[in-house]
Amino acid sequence: MKAFILSVLVLVSNIVFAQNTMTIPPTITSTNINLTLQNSTHQFFAGQNTATMGANGDVLAPTIIMNQGSNVNINVTNNLGQTTTIHWHGMHVSAVNDGGPHTTIAPGATWNPQFTVLDKATTFWYHPHLDTFTDEHVSKGIAGLIIVKDPIEAVLNLPRTYGVDDIPLVVQTKDFDANYQIVNHSNADDVVMVNATVNPMTDVPAQVVRFRILNGSSQRVFNFGLSGNKSFYQIGTDGGLKEAPLLLTRLPLAPGERTEILVDLSGMSGQTLQLMSYASEFGNGIYGATNPGMGAGMTLNNYNPNPLNGTDFNILQLNVVNQTAGAITSIPTALTTVTPFLEANSNQSRTFTLSPITGGPNQLNGDFTINGVSMDMNNINVTIPLDNTEIWTISNNSAIAHPFHIHDIQYQILDIGGNPPPAYAVGWKDTFLVPAGGTSMRVITKFTDFADTTVPYMYHCHMLTHEDGGMMGQFVVVDTSTSVDDFNLEKSFVLYPNPSKKTYMTAKLNKDGEEIKAYAIINSLGQIIRYEKIDENEVSNLYSFPVFEFSTGTYILKLFTNDDIYTTKFLLD
Ligand code: C2O
Ligand code: CU
Ligand code: CU
Repeated sequence: MKAFILSVLVLVSNIVFAQNTMTIPPTITSTNINLTLQNSTHQFFAGQNTATMGANGDVLAPTIIMNQGSNVNINVTNNLGQTTTIHWHGMHVSAVNDGGPHTTIAPGATWNPQFTVLDKATTFWYHPHLDTFTDEHVSKGIAGLIIVKDPIEAVLNLPRTYGVDDIPLVVQTKDFDANYQIVNHSNADDVVMVNATVNPMTDVPAQVVRFRILNGSSQRVFNFGLSGNKSFYQIGTDGGLKEAPLLLTRLPLAPGERTEILVDLSGMSGQTLQLMSYASEFGNGIYGATNPGMGAGMTLNNYNPNPLNGTDFNILQLNVVNQTAGAITSIPTALTTVTPFLEANSNQSRTFTLSPITGGPNQLNGDFTINGVSMDMNNINVTIPLDNTEIWTISNNSAIAHPFHIHDIQYQILDIGGNPPPAYAVGWKDTFLVPAGGTSMRVITKFTDFADTTVPYMYHCHMLTHEDGGMMGQFVVVDTSTSVDDFNLEKSFVLYPNPSKKTYMTAKLNKDGEEIKAYAIINSLGQIIRYEKIDENEVSNLYSFPVFEFSTGTYILKLFTNDDIYTTKFLLD
């Protein structure tokens, strides 16, 4: 949008402005979930048709309500006329059900993931995740919330009437061109919307109200707060409830992150307040601050004329109305127990360095790499032994902060720049902003369940322009246990010479039609020291691999075939 129109709009919106009643996305409560992805149009601005993508509607997607422990059966039908995927962001599901870039849904096809809900009560979201097209499909409109319920949350005295005192907020900024069409990969994201409603207002009862907030923007970080600096309580992070409500007046939220807050509106019937972003308080190096980069004058195309950068702006007008029957009027003192992962239990540490591709550490425009490489669909960057507890150090060697997201797991933040994380980031997280300028964030997690040597999970920056530009990597979780399939091993394959003099070893399968697809070598500490997928045209019943770079000792070989996984020990002497 033209900056002039918007700067007027921002000024005026503090006084009186034509407000639109905020849409509440419909819900799906059945365990049989049908989603149809479609092209459509939507009037974000009265009388103006904008081309959109939606699930079961013009724009956005239904809120799916799931219960922990239930089995869901989902059908995603793709009527977009182009390939996409649907990813259940934050949920602990197997790689084939995760909906990452490898699990494509062709035009006209239906994808049928089925899984058991293992997560704790919280708010997740789902969105397309096609390699290099995530921003286009998300900013055109496909994004929905998932509310998971569990028995711990169910007994707490919390608001949970959807759309009344338990209100979903998908907060986004978008860029519209002169013809009111959405521009993706843009830094001119000057239109704020909640649940796809521009200039939104909503009625809220005069009692404790719960908001489930998603930052579904492509790049912008919000610094949430209420007008008049009214305080509120944070009760949940990305992957679950906090141990106790946290009293706050500001809550930053980067793209991909969710939070749940309680606002006590008791006695305020008839009053109006604003949910705002106090973006003027952001330091340099954050998208949405005065300077997107660390240094004075560092900027991005179209960033400076964007009236949302470095200023405080309204997000949602809250009109307080009469209390409902059965209103919640108090804030619980305790919520749940968050069991910490202990550093002492870590099996492996890894470092992920975020760097600009060219131009040195001050570069803001252009693409970024993780450990010096860009996303390559054919390259597995990291192989993780099943059941590993790992510490990941994400080191940001660039001038802009990046929200770092990991699929499959929820992590806990150990420290950021050597300091404990802010209180609002304590708890279960799958996405968090790594500050710019050489700062490191250390997180700890455990990779339980879902070993799969072929379909990888992703880790990436959740600024969608960066993700699409290659700021993403892939990991597989591999079962390294040696106890299971040693049975009848001699009949299945031979490995020779064993012991070996540290040159080459050869594995040969005995069964007709069985082929070696991949192999892994694991050292005596249980670390995977090599994982290799064998080139399609080299696949056969026989494979020779070098071992001369390994030191003397006992190792474990895992052979992944089209039929089975075999495990055996070998000795290098
Ligand atoms: Cu929200 Cu890999 O995604
Ligand atoms: Cu995700
Ligand atoms: Cu980034």
